[in-house]
Amino acid sequence: MTEIPEKLEDAGRGRAFFNEPDTAGLMHRAFTRSLGFDRTDMNRPMIGILNTYSEMNNCHAHFPELVEAVKRGVWQAGGFPLEFPTISLGEIYLTPTSMLWRNLAAMDTEEMIRGNPMDGVVVLCGCDKTTPAALMGVASADLPAILVSGGPMLNGHWRGQTLGACTDCRRLTTEYRAGNLSDEEYAEVEENLVRSRGHCMVMGTASTMNSLTEALGISLPGNGAIPAADSRRILLAERAGRRIVAMAEEGMRPSQILTSDAMENAITLLCSLGGSTNAVVHLPALAGRLGVSLPLTLFDDISRRTPLLANVRPAGSFQMEDLFYAGGVSAILHQLLPLLHGDALTVTGRTLAENVAQSSIVNPEVIHSLDRPLKTEGGLAILRGNLAPSGAVIKHAAASPALLQHRGRAVVFHSFADLQERIDDPTLDVGPDDVLVLQNAGPVGGPGMPEVGNLPIPKKLLKQGVRDMVRISDARMSGTALGTIVLHVAPEAAVGGPLSLVRTGDEIELDAAGRRLELCVEQEELDRRRAAWRPPEAAYGRGYGKLFLDHVLQAPQGMDFDFLQGRDPVQAMAQPKF
Ligand code: FES
Repeated sequence: MTEIPEKLEDAGRGRAFFNEPDTAGLMHRAFTRSLGFDRTDMNRPMIGILNTYSEMNNCHAHFPELVEAVKRGVWQAGGFPLEFPTISLGEIYLTPTSMLWRNLAAMDTEEMIRGNPMDGVVVLCGCDKTTPAALMGVASADLPAILVSGGPMLNGHWRGQTLGACTDCRRLTTEYRAGNLSDEEYAEVEENLVRSRGHCMVMGTASTMNSLTEALGISLPGNGAIPAADSRRILLAERAGRRIVAMAEEGMRPSQILTSDAMENAITLLCSLGGSTNAVVHLPALAGRLGVSLPLTLFDDISRRTPLLANVRPAGSFQMEDLFYAGGVSAILHQLLPLLHGDALTVTGRTLAENVAQSSIVNPEVIHSLDRPLKTEGGLAILRGNLAPSGAVIKHAAASPALLQHRGRAVVFHSFADLQERIDDPTLDVGPDDVLVLQNAGPVGGPGMPEVGNLPIPKKLLKQGVRDMVRISDARMSGTALGTIVLHVAPEAAVGGPLSLVRTGDEIELDAAGRRLELCVEQEELDRRRAAWRPPEAAYGRGYGKLFLDHVLQAPQGMDFDFLQGRDPVQAMAQPKF
């Protein structure tokens, strides 16, 4: 039996799509009916639910349940939810590095939002690169959007120790390599480290970026720290479903939320969290989409005036589950209000200050107050000098204080392959005071700027008890790692930056307090080396890899593609379909 067709309202992208005249409109409605929806559904704001689920991304394993919760919320608020996939970037699975595809995921996000006739979108994200890609994609598409993260894993436990992914992957592997852990014990660690779904539960890149969504105002309060396994994560997703319908009707776009004030709020939170150095790449990439200037000096300025409040590994002692019980990201933001732009608008329709007005610290050991900070300065510093004319980053909160002022002899590795081949060679001429240097691991040289900046300590030094050395590279480092590690040296070696001119035996001086990184070699000698320098062979000659190499920007510009800078807002009404 055929129903009498309900008249479709002429509002929004979704309804315009169903209302198109003649064959196009007929096809849009008829094909949507094949999914089991009728005109009552088509008459509602269409909400896309972007699902980055993949079995090759363990951090997103529970997303089907979250999608159902978002859908429930959308239906409750009178919307019409339709789920759609984009590529998923599983940090653990992708080789050579998930960062190679962050921009591709951001393009996929932007273009699928643009191409499909939705009025608003809820983006599910969580693992290291999916959250930055979501931010970049929704910023450029500029359609009403809320991010919902998968949430952090629960704490791991082993023999009375709390384990964290993946700070303890590194720490315990170091002990295993040093001969302090048996094969059996190492196998037990494997079994006890990751005990729930969700993203890595120390303040690594995923926890950092997902926490920053709260400061940016692009997620609902609670998004940063509610564990993946907690039922409140499901309720958060349902609330996001309800709220996005209202946002679609209000026409509240990311460009109203992701302002320069919101970016400064995010940097302030980053510093008070002792967050990942990777945010110093992802936030400039987001800023590039928004037309906001975000020089590295701003990170340094904000870090100097922002105290470290979160006692979370790797800079502190606890993990994300503890942070949640201690009051969550909202409690930190509440403390930070004197340093924030509290009047910044958020997806709740309220200001950041209003969102966190009722939040308070439950456990002052985990979240310190502004008048009793863990450290008086934030965790990051930006270095400059003749070795890094465009800047370099150090997470000094997670470094050895004794090495933050250091002059030592360089031991140079020309590539990651060279490092792997020689680092544990017993004949390698290296001592504890030397400076390990890795070249050609940046955006172009990596390629993709892999997380190899935390060069392993040579085995023979490990056996002598050495656990930290000054290490310098143009690579990134996992936010879960720690040590006296200088990263993101720019320009990178593969494009001829001064890092490419360092030779074993040169003296290098690090002065973190003075924000300096100097190669102590005469200019004349450096000029001679520059004249003889040749770029390494390109890693790719075709396909996406070539596109990447041809268009990737350097770390201070966020490693985005040059042609992706800026926004191209989706129009309120869908374009006619041809
Ligand atoms: Fe996904 Fe660590 S593997 S956040």
